[in-house]
Amino acid sequence: MSAVQALREAAADGPLHRPVCRLLQAHQAELADVAMRDLFERDPQRFERFSLKLDGLLLDYSKNRMTDDTLALLLRLADEADVAGWRARMFAGDKINHTENRAVLHTALRNRSNTPVRVDGEDVMPGVNAVLAKMGAFAEQVRSGAWCGYTGARITDVVNIGIGGSDLGPQMVVQALKPYRHPQLKVHFISNVDGAHVRETLETLNPATTLFVVASKTFTTQETMTNAHTARAWLLAAAQDETHIAKHFVAVSTNRDAVTAFGIDAANMFEFWDWVGGRYSLWSAIGLSIVLAVGIERFIELLDGAHAMDTHFQTAPLAANMPVILALLGVWYNNFFGCASHAILPYDHYLRSLPAYLQQADMESNGKSVDREGRSVDYATGPILWGATGINGQHAFYQLLHQGTRMVPADFIVSVRAPIPEMQAHHDILIANCLAQTEALMRGRTPDETAAQTTQFVSHKVFDGNHPSNTLMIDQLTPYALGRLIALYEHKIFVQAVIWNLNAYDQWGVELGKQLASRILPELQGDAPVSGHDASTEALIQHYRHMTQARAGL
Ligand code: F6P
Repeated sequence: MSAVQALREAAADGPLHRPVCRLLQAHQAELADVAMRDLFERDPQRFERFSLKLDGLLLDYSKNRMTDDTLALLLRLADEADVAGWRARMFAGDKINHTENRAVLHTALRNRSNTPVRVDGEDVMPGVNAVLAKMGAFAEQVRSGAWCGYTGARITDVVNIGIGGSDLGPQMVVQALKPYRHPQLKVHFISNVDGAHVRETLETLNPATTLFVVASKTFTTQETMTNAHTARAWLLAAAQDETHIAKHFVAVSTNRDAVTAFGIDAANMFEFWDWVGGRYSLWSAIGLSIVLAVGIERFIELLDGAHAMDTHFQTAPLAANMPVILALLGVWYNNFFGCASHAILPYDHYLRSLPAYLQQADMESNGKSVDREGRSVDYATGPILWGATGINGQHAFYQLLHQGTRMVPADFIVSVRAPIPEMQAHHDILIANCLAQTEALMRGRTPDETAAQTTQFVSHKVFDGNHPSNTLMIDQLTPYALGRLIALYEHKIFVQAVIWNLNAYDQWGVELGKQLASRILPELQGDAPVSGHDASTEALIQHYRHMTQARAGL
């Protein structure tokens, strides 16, 4: 047996083998047939006891299949996994991303208290503050019209070219903060290497008034670089002079050499650092398109909100700590009820991209099957995260949530304040539906209750209920509230990684596909014999080649 095989077979002492987990298993068996509706009936204080408030943010977790005993056992699990110790290590800049030998310090980017944070003995805060100031000054020039394109016209359109963390975060935030956006500056996002994405975006734009933000931590990502080169050619076709690139291209990256090799002046590069993970990077210079859209003051409010959540996460007792509670409930369903997925259901048009954003944050972080020591895990790790805006989902996939055979824990997210005050009547309907869904999921409708309403197809109309959900009610979707919400999920993911003994900050699982794609690309384009693949892949390459050559009349 090789050393790697031995490692992959040796996880019998893993975190889910702790004695407390056996207690949790036994407890789950006791609770399996307990209905939440009965727990509510027995305990009028259930909401008070199982909800938390943090100025303007209410987390109701009372509609979960849990009791005080559940919480006590889960908190013991958190203690034994040393959540508090790992939390301290992360905030202190320890290299907890051990497979890449990197610190994990997205929290330093929003460290509004400005206390020193050291990596390898050096305080990172002066650098963080300098880049933030540079982003603000640049954005102000563009937003005020002082920064002009090659014809002297003001910039009207910003195009962020990036993918994954260099796209999803800024795109989600710019969309969420639409009411705060500059009225004369549109922000677009190009991520997919599918030519339709770049073509469809560029054909609506004028090169003389377009600014590109090429956002890539590595500045080597094939999709981003291909789109950036296409955009560069599009600009030069109109501008006819490479010196004009400086007016129309800026870069956000950790890779200065690659940025200058692309032709972007290093003065127009906004730097960040290897201790910022891609999916945790919207707080860094990757947020430049956010700053361009909403201004530096609003961006700082976003950072302030995240910092408030960081402080809460660091200081609140685990039993009253929002990220910890959400994480533990997730573990409860994932590892003790066998739930494979978790739904994110924002009842908010402006948060419609939140599920996709959290999908990367969660699934790229905790979608791992070896633990920190490289041993195969014999327990479930990160769930399949999915979701869509609430009301639309009700008319699409909620049927399965209510009457399907799987239990899907869900987070409902909603704002008290209507984003458009004159649309209050719409907002009331939205909220009524959101609350109705959590109630229906929890209570269900018994056969007797159903029979009292109808005599036909009664069994089809029964709802078993007992489906868990959390409700996050935000006073108003401000930049501050959004920052706090995103940080809440970041820390939830971190706590779960600690409990599952994972490194949440690497992503080796995306590498193999990239390597194979770079091998297949020349095979698609050339006519050399295709070999070394399985029969299926080879036949597909041949088919593609044959069809494209036939179409080209070759
Ligand atoms: O391929 C996955 C990934 O590395 C993500 O983690 C990252 O957010 C994305 O690609 C983009 O990477 P970059 O910012 O280096 O272009």
